Amino acid sequence: MRTPIIAGNWKLNKTVDEALALAKDLKGQLSDLTDVEIIIAPPFTALAPLASTLTDSPIVLAGQNCFPSEGAYTGEISPALLRDVGCRAVIIGHSERRQLFAEQDDFINQKVKAALATGLKVIFCIGETLTERNENRTFEVLEKQIRMGMSGLDSAAMTRLTVAYEPIWAIGTGQTASNEQAQEAHHFIRGLLSQLFDVSTAEATRILYGGSVKPDNIDGLMHQADIDGALVGGASLKACDFIRIARYKRC
Ligand code: 13P
Repeated sequence: MRTPIIAGNWKLNKTVDEALALAKDLKGQLSDLTDVEIIIAPPFTALAPLASTLTDSPIVLAGQNCFPSEGAYTGEISPALLRDVGCRAVIIGHSERRQLFAEQDDFINQKVKAALATGLKVIFCIGETLTERNENRTFEVLEKQIRMGMSGLDSAAMTRLTVAYEPIWAIGTGQTASNEQAQEAHHFIRGLLSQLFDVSTAEATRILYGGSVKPDNIDGLMHQADIDGALVGGASLKACDFIRIARYKRC
């Protein structure tokens, strides 16, 4: 019903040569996968070279961030320039942007709207800190991030938005959320989407899990009813790991 997405967020890793080598491996070994969408988000410097390498491949290229306007904004990148260089998607609201670069929900909302208006698909990231989880505030935090970050969107816009639930305590720590913890959060998110939009929009929206996804935990995660794929960091940097994740065991 919902086509799964396996997305690799390469973060600030890979020279152009390294990125080309990894993309060629993925293209060679994943192009036959027809029941999963594969997205990779390399650093900006590798986007143009990878766009030509990935011609004739189903692998979708994504930016890791964007700025909502164009013009005198030194050091930023716009959705239109991402499209121009071959991207069809962009990651917005990643916790590293929120935490290290102080991005707030209303700014993230401007980016989401600008990216969608430019025709890009959006992977919209949300997630709670360990303190928030320990204080039983996970749902409250996710709800605020969704209500503010997705404010002003309608059901039509939602056909091009994917939510990524990435608990911050699970990112890069090796401590993935348990299948049950992830499913519980995803179920909550889908319920909220059905309140904010409608049931069919909520049922059609892909919700990805991110945070220490590895070859040895992907199968269990993908068996959960509301987990529609993964946003993979560290394990997306090695072809064999990412390929195994993309080829998770179907039931
Ligand atoms: P890790 O898979 O390295 O935990 O990173 C997850 C992430 O932040 C993906 O966006």
